[in-house]
Amino acid sequence: MTGLLDGKVALITGAAGGIGRASAQLFAEEGARLVISDIGAEGVEETAALVRDAGGEVVPVVADLGSRDDIRAMVAAAVDTWGRLDCAFNNAGITGGQIGQGGRLTAEWDEDAFDRIIDINLKGTWLCMVAELNQMMAQEAGGAILSTASLAGIQGFPTTTGYSASKHAIVGMTKTAAMEYAPKVRVNALCPGYVDTPMLTDTMSRRGELILGQIPFGRLADPREMAQMAAWALSDRASYVSGQCLAVDGAFTAG
Ligand SMILES: NC(=O)c1ccc[n+]([C@@H]2O[C@H](COP(=O)([O-])OP(=O)(O)OC[C@H]3O[C@@H](n4cnc5c(N)ncnc54)[C@H](O)[C@@H]3O)[C@@H](O)[C@H]2O)c1
Repeated sequence: MTGLLDGKVALITGAAGGIGRASAQLFAEEGARLVISDIGAEGVEETAALVRDAGGEVVPVVADLGSRDDIRAMVAAAVDTWGRLDCAFNNAGITGGQIGQGGRLTAEWDEDAFDRIIDINLKGTWLCMVAELNQMMAQEAGGAILSTASLAGIQGFPTTTGYSASKHAIVGMTKTAAMEYAPKVRVNALCPGYVDTPMLTDTMSRRGELILGQIPFGRLADPREMAQMAAWALSDRASYVSGQCLAVDGAFTAG
């Protein structure tokens, strides 16, 4: 059987758990050779072991999205190991809750926390795109990039101001790059709804029932449901899809 990503070289950030780990497992099942990265060394090694145990080929890298050098080294690892980079999934990110801003209104956010979330989610994603675009434009086959935004990148969510700002900006950057680098590199954004990952633990403990009541599907998404969209968006099946926010949200934004 042929896989969606047969023969592709794919990079995934934020691969120590959640959506990134599910994507590493699925991309490998779909035939990709991988470089996976995260700031968390233990988690990224665990993901690599899961991929290898299932017969996949993977290079784990520890990289901090706050470091331009780490990001360059991560893309270089793909090129040094596999000769090129076909697909890049810029998925790592942090929430306000993870940096002590949970429940805060816009005027209540700490300035340092605002800077931090913009630095990791937005500037980190931009630095990834820079390194990836440079590589993909230099190679004959081009490539495809998918960056994880959020529903908070397409509509407002009270108490998420820094997160929402960073994710809206990822969408803007995605649309701009899609036009600039067309047709050689396709550039899209994934906008997950509420996904059952460690990132959501804090939010669900505070507002779980309310959130489930707002989702027409009445449940959280499984991380693998995000991975399925990511694999498709980065595959040749999506050959005319670029500059889009791909919402995977159990009909949350349908109304
Ligand atoms: N879970 C959800 O409901 C949801 C909803 C919308 C969007 N998202 C987005 O999905 C993406 C993946 O999140 P997840 O839900 O799998 O959560 P997660 O916390 O399991 O994964 C995020 C990963 O990013 C890594 N990371 C954090 N800071 C980093 C840094 N400075 N450098 C490198 N890696 C770093 C973490 O170690 C972690 O492994 C994020 O961008 C998140 O904003 C998640």
